[in-house]
Amino acid sequence: MADISARKADHIDITTQRVVTPQVSPGWDDIHLIHQSLPEIDLQDVKLGVRLFGSDLRAPLVIASMTGGHPRAGEINRRLAQAAQEFGIAMGVGSQRAAIRNPDLMPTYSVAREHGPDVFLIANVGAPQLIDQDTEPALSVGDVKALVDAMGADALAIHLNYLQEVVQPEGDQRARGCLDAIRLVAASLNVPIIAKETGAGINRAQAQKLKDAGIRALDVGGAGGTSFALVESFRAADRHLGEAERLGQAFGGWGLPTAVSVVECLGLGVPVIATGGIRGGLDAAKALALGADLVGVARPMLSVAMFLVGATTIADLNMCERVVLGRTGEWLAQRGGSERPGLGRGRGPSPGVRILEQDPR
Ligand SMILES: Cc1cc2nc3c(=O)[nH]c(=O)nc-3n(C[C@H](O)[C@H](O)[C@H](O)COP(=O)(O)O)c2cc1C
Repeated sequence: MADISARKADHIDITTQRVVTPQVSPGWDDIHLIHQSLPEIDLQDVKLGVRLFGSDLRAPLVIASMTGGHPRAGEINRRLAQAAQEFGIAMGVGSQRAAIRNPDLMPTYSVAREHGPDVFLIANVGAPQLIDQDTEPALSVGDVKALVDAMGADALAIHLNYLQEVVQPEGDQRARGCLDAIRLVAASLNVPIIAKETGAGINRAQAQKLKDAGIRALDVGGAGGTSFALVESFRAADRHLGEAERLGQAFGGWGLPTAVSVVECLGLGVPVIATGGIRGGLDAAKALALGADLVGVARPMLSVAMFLVGATTIADLNMCERVVLGRTGEWLAQRGGSERPGLGRGRGPSPGVRILEQDPR
């Protein structure tokens, strides 16, 4: 247990102090929105509000799941929840495995509800923990329900992090049976389940399987942002584990770039969240123009980009004209992307996400 808590602290230190983004690009530089010289709307008409699973968000933003399970992590969750409360956006906490094994750690997660009473809050558990591993038995459906209830969460993200697990010497390496376990959790919980990759992207066939298993949203967690292969490589180097260090470096850029994964996940009738390498409002606008329903970013730049393409709502932005060049264009051409709803002109919002006429206040 001390191990998990120490790992959470390592993740915070490494991701804030070292370079953990790979050479591979998430793809935003290849996406170009077609500028409208005469937007024929006023900047003040731009509305960023969306409704997600019955909750109003003031912007289509999620603070992606990050942490918990360590005293410093509790402080981070407190501050993030205050920000989410103030700006009316959604927030995820990090993997809650530590709190199931040691209930004393639960406040480092539930602090988010305490300081974000109105926030759309997303609980988090790893898919590998839903099946028996060599060192630990599977979490029961009751365990998972308890962690959702303990923080009054509005949804549960099940994270898919096998790239990270195989690089960690102590990682969980069994994956057989995960889809059935996800199906069981989805059928048993009364909150929507989000399937969430953590840096390697979700492809279309896997997205379809997840949807068929009952998940209600896809967080693509694509390549090009924080790479947990690199994070674990740094952890391994610090512990003089040369083989794991090299493995992490070799797989640092593994996976579907975020922009490609967004397109792969469109058209399945579930909201798509673009996470992975969104570093500003313009990246966010491009992800939304590609067809994503939500992202994690800063609001002001997002409004400016919407104004300049003449989009008053996120639904308009989903439908705006754009071109996809370079590596991302080549990826999508080879993956049959041009026949997908994400290319050319867009497709309107997904079921589960309703665009608000007015920004909720
Ligand atoms: C310090 C840190 C810890 C993270 N822990 C989790 C986690 O416990 N569960 C999870 O689903 N994702 C976790 N993530 C992954 C993020 O939610 C996100 O998918 C990833 O960092 C890519 O987004 P970015 O490029 O904007 O960082 C973590 C990310 C960071 C930076």
